Amino acid sequence: MNNPVTPSPPPENAEKRHFLKQVLVGVGLAYSFAPFYAVWRYLVSPSERRTPAAPLTFDTALLNPSNYAIVRFGDKNVHIRRGENGGLRALNMRCTHAGCMVEWQNTPQKFVCHCHGAEFHADGSVAKLPATEPLEELTLKIGANADRITLFDDTKSR
Ligand code: FES
Repeated sequence: MNNPVTPSPPPENAEKRHFLKQVLVGVGLAYSFAPFYAVWRYLVSPSERRTPAAPLTFDTALLNPSNYAIVRFGDKNVHIRRGENGGLRALNMRCTHAGCMVEWQNTPQKFVCHCHGAEFHADGSVAKLPATEPLEELTLKIGANADRITLFDDTKSR
């Protein structure tokens, strides 16, 4: 009695099957990682994905008689102020509690957030809860003759 022999597929069919298996594995992997990607996109806030703004240079003559200016820089409102010692400081006016805009009060030299009552000292440090983090400070570079200021955004992009 003869053993029935199964005919082996021609070599080009084997290549097609191998290619098809690879495609199916790739599609399967893409589907299995899709939920993780969706969760990652949800957890990383848009502000953390932002790209830093290009440096902004302006004249110190912009500082008003009270020695401060508010400039729009990228997506931030930045408060630039000359302190008593003559030094300049740039602070993001976004409250670190829940993101409202803080207001600068020349007397008594502090930032106030009207949303929930947080207050910040002139250097950006917390003066009153509920905010627990200081205002974000931006990097300033002052020109050689001190009449030009360049503002840099050190925010890390993702
Ligand atoms: S957002 Fe400023 S205190 Fe809440």
